[in-house]
Amino acid sequence: MFQTDLGRAEAVLAALEVKRPEVTAHSWRVSAYSVRLAVQFGLADDTVETIRLGALLHDVGKMLTPASILEKPGRPNARQWKELRTHPELGAEICHRSGFDDEVAAIVLYHHERCDGSGYPDQLLHAAIPYTVRIVGVMDTFDALTSSREYRDRLSVAAARALIARGAGSKYCPWVVSGLLALPVEMLQPGLGDALGVTRRPEGRVVRPVAGLVDFRRPDSGSALHASLC
Ligand SMILES: [Fe+2]
Repeated sequence: MFQTDLGRAEAVLAALEVKRPEVTAHSWRVSAYSVRLAVQFGLADDTVETIRLGALLHDVGKMLTPASILEKPGRPNARQWKELRTHPELGAEICHRSGFDDEVAAIVLYHHERCDGSGYPDQLLHAAIPYTVRIVGVMDTFDALTSSREYRDRLSVAAARALIARGAGSKYCPWVVSGLLALPVEMLQPGLGDALGVTRRPEGRVVRPVAGLVDFRRPDSGSALHASLC
């Protein structure tokens, strides 16, 4: 079943790649990082697969964002920013129409929500943001920071981790940030094989748990996780 879902996600990504190759490459990297962290947290296999799919599809709504906005040099203006911010809802709709379940679609819909309610589209507070979403949201930010943009150079892994750590407890889930900080630096490199093999089976390279992550491993229930960690 997972393979079927993954095959369907790859088909959607292939369509995205035709129009937005840079978004597709970003999506593969975010998926690789998110899965590596999820494995380190000791999450159940089905949860890891949900995270893998949600991360792969998180920006698929950008398929419908005009190229004039995505490819514009410099920062978007207010009107362009407003249009850009519709991509989570567009992406969730694509997921539903493509047959993905609600948990995958939730990652797509809420990946720009932030713990302090400053995100979008629904300004959710941290307790209302599923932990699967929080993992993908942080790793999405990490990849964005460590990738070049028209208007800025890429940050080093250390600089990106330090910047995200400053937002722990406000923008970012402290549990997820703790995991990001504990990951060995080699797990935060996309690697040459990420376009296919490493992303598909990243846990093959992982020895878990990483020292220091034990205290952050998932308790028995998701609700307990919400209550105890955020
Ligand atoms: Fe996004």
